[in-house]
Amino acid sequence: MTKAQARKYGQEALASSGISNAPSESLWLLESVTGETASKLLASQGDELTAEQEKNFRDKIAERISGRPIQYITGKWEFYGREFYTAEGALIPRPETELLVDFALEYLKGRENPVIIDLCAGTGCIGLTLASLIPGSKVYLVEKYDEAFEILAKNARGVKNAVIIKGDILEDIASLGLPECDLLLSNPPYIKSSEIPALQTEVLREPVTALDGGEDGLTFYRALKKIIPSLCRGAAAFECGEDQGGDLMNMFPGSRLLRDCYGNVRVLVEGEDRC
Ligand SMILES: C[S@@+](CC[C@H](N)C(=O)[O-])C[C@H]1O[C@@H](n2cnc3c(N)ncnc32)[C@H](O)[C@@H]1O
Repeated sequence: MTKAQARKYGQEALASSGISNAPSESLWLLESVTGETASKLLASQGDELTAEQEKNFRDKIAERISGRPIQYITGKWEFYGREFYTAEGALIPRPETELLVDFALEYLKGRENPVIIDLCAGTGCIGLTLASLIPGSKVYLVEKYDEAFEILAKNARGVKNAVIIKGDILEDIASLGLPECDLLLSNPPYIKSSEIPALQTEVLREPVTALDGGEDGLTFYRALKKIIPSLCRGAAAFECGEDQGGDLMNMFPGSRLLRDCYGNVRVLVEGEDRC
């Protein structure tokens, strides 16, 4: 099978299983099997795959059709222009979470050596992006679960101004030894427990511990509210569900909501007047 034939085979197989982004996904899977860039693969005419590559590619297409997210098959995903290692133990970074990073960059503009805390860090996409973009910053990232923490550790390797901490933010936060920060960030689990079973098949392949925000979806925001007075000398910003704006404005009086480019509520910002 040539690389061009493989791409077409993958595209058709994925499309007939209802995968909307079939051309790109077929190409990404071929990239991951051959180690070649998309542009090289798109230009390739008669190049043959080795027998092993062909088997690998067919297996990956089958995995994808079975509902495994592409990001777990390729083991990587882009967030804010940076590549993050992704695997089953951690939530796949979402484009909507980039709004939290946009806010952080704007809020911290002009501050020297800011201290940033990212609670519920998962892959570390929020905190590690900021650590890379603000070299003078010190970023503390907290994650509870072993598998997610391993993924975080892998992504944090070589990021010298990032400190990763294994801990439970619903327990005694003081025991984690976090310093006061200029900006507290979190994208916590925020889906109501009762809504979890109805999520898309692919989302259900992600850890439920990254999604489940308790009976009313607000468990983690209650904990964050208690954490703010001891840790924040600056603002706090949390990602939230598009239907949670009202509840969160009640819970955090004087805060404001940020919306994405579709007009959906995405982020709650609290305490901008603190410092
Ligand atoms: C919605 S995911 C967000 C991950 C990452 N920050 C992102 O934006 O992609 C929530 C993360 O919180 C972690 N988590 C769940 N309960 C926690 C707890 N009690 N303490 C600390 N982290 C927790 C989950 O393992 C998961 O990685």
